[in-house]
Amino acid sequence: MTNTDPGTLAAPSADVEREVLVEVTDLAVHFPIKRGVVLDRTVGHVHAVDGVTLGVRRGETYGLVGESGCGKSTLGRALLRLEKLTGGRVVFDGTDLSGMKGEPLRRMRRRMQMVFQDPLSSLDPRQSVEALLVEGLRAHGLDRGREPTAARLRELLDAVGLPVRALRKYPHEFSGGQRQRIGIARALAVGPDLIIADEPVSALDVSVQAQVVNLLEDLQGEFGLTYLVIAHDLAVVRHIADRVGVMYLGGLVEEAGSDELYAAPRHPYTKALLSAVPVPDPQVEDRRERILLSGDLPSPSDPPTGCRFHTRCPWRRPERCDTERPELRTIGTGHRVACHYAEEIGAG
Ligand SMILES: Nc1ncnc2c1ncn2[C@@H]1O[C@H](COP(=O)(O)OP(=O)(O)OP(=O)(O)O)[C@@H](O)[C@H]1O
Ligand code: SF4
Ligand SMILES: [Mg+2]
Repeated sequence: MTNTDPGTLAAPSADVEREVLVEVTDLAVHFPIKRGVVLDRTVGHVHAVDGVTLGVRRGETYGLVGESGCGKSTLGRALLRLEKLTGGRVVFDGTDLSGMKGEPLRRMRRRMQMVFQDPLSSLDPRQSVEALLVEGLRAHGLDRGREPTAARLRELLDAVGLPVRALRKYPHEFSGGQRQRIGIARALAVGPDLIIADEPVSALDVSVQAQVVNLLEDLQGEFGLTYLVIAHDLAVVRHIADRVGVMYLGGLVEEAGSDELYAAPRHPYTKALLSAVPVPDPQVEDRRERILLSGDLPSPSDPPTGCRFHTRCPWRRPERCDTERPELRTIGTGHRVACHYAEEIGAG
C-alpha cells in the first residue's frame, strides 16, 4: 500500500487551511470470499478499499466520486467503523477510532451520522416520523422528556423545511424529496459534527435534487456541519463539494479543490470520467476531447499489479506502470495525484 502522503492536509501554503476533522491513513477494508458449505473456506478477498489516505477538514464538503464498485460506500462505512478495518487508521477529531469498541465507539458515532440514497430503506415504514426521530434521540440518550423533546422535533422539522403535522405521518405518505428531508432530520437530531451522505440525491428527480442539495448547503452553514458526500454523479459533486477525491478500484487516484479538479484533471481516469460528462454548450461539446476507456473495470478481488488503472490507461508505459503502484503525491497546491506521468500528461 503506497498512498501514504497526508502532506497536503497540513500544507502551510494555503492561507485558509482548516483543521482536519477526520483523517484516514492507509485505510484498507478487504472482504473475505467464502466457498464451501461445510468448511466455509476463504478463497480470496475483495479489496474494496485498499490503502486510502485522506482528510476531511472541519466545515468543508468533501466529494467522493468513482464508478460503481470502486469502494466509495465501504470507505464511508469504514469511517464510522461500521466495517471491520483490515488495515490503517481512522482518527476523528483527534481520537483514534481504529481499535475502539463498545460504549466509547457508540459515543463517538453520535458525532458522525449517515444519510442514505433511499431514505425509505433506512426508515422503518411502520413508525411515524415522530417515532423515527425520537428513536434516534433515545439511542444516544438525548430524549429529555416530553416538552423538551417535542420542542426539539419542531426545531428539526423546521430546519429541514417540513411542517409540524409531518410528525404524525408515515414515510410512505411523503414524496422522495420529503423522505430525504426526514432522513436528514434524523441524522441532524443527535447534533453530529460530520454527515456522510451516500448518494443523497441519486434516487430523486432532477428538479428535487437541487432542493435537497440546497438544503444540505443551508444546514451546513446553520449548524457548522462537515460533509463527506459520496456520488457517482460528477455534476452533483461539483456543485456541492469544496474538494473532490476520485476513487478507482479501492484507491484514491486524484484529489483537488473542486474547481481545480474539473478545470485541470491530471489523472487519466479523472480525465476520462470528466470527458464522458456532456457539456450543455453544443460548440464546446463538439470540440472537446473525449477519452474512451478500453476494457472493463477489473475485479476488485484480483486487482491489476502496479498502477491499478494500467489495463485501461491510454498513457500506460508498461515498464513502470505494470509493476510499480504510483503513490498519491502532491503536484500542486492541494492537488494530489497517483500517476507516474501526471506532469507529462498535464502538459499534453
Ligand atoms: N459486505 C460485503 N461483502 C463482500 N463484498 C462487498 C461487501 N460490501 C461491498 N463489497 C464489494 O466491495 C466493492 C466496493 O463496494 P462499494 O459498495 O463500497 O462500492 P461503491 O463505490 O459504493 O459502488 P456503488 O457506486 O455501486 O454504490 C464491490 O466490489 C462490492 O461488491
Ligand atoms: S501510472 Fe501509468 S497506467 Fe497509471 S495512470 Fe499513470 S500513465 Fe496510466
Ligand atoms: Mg455505494
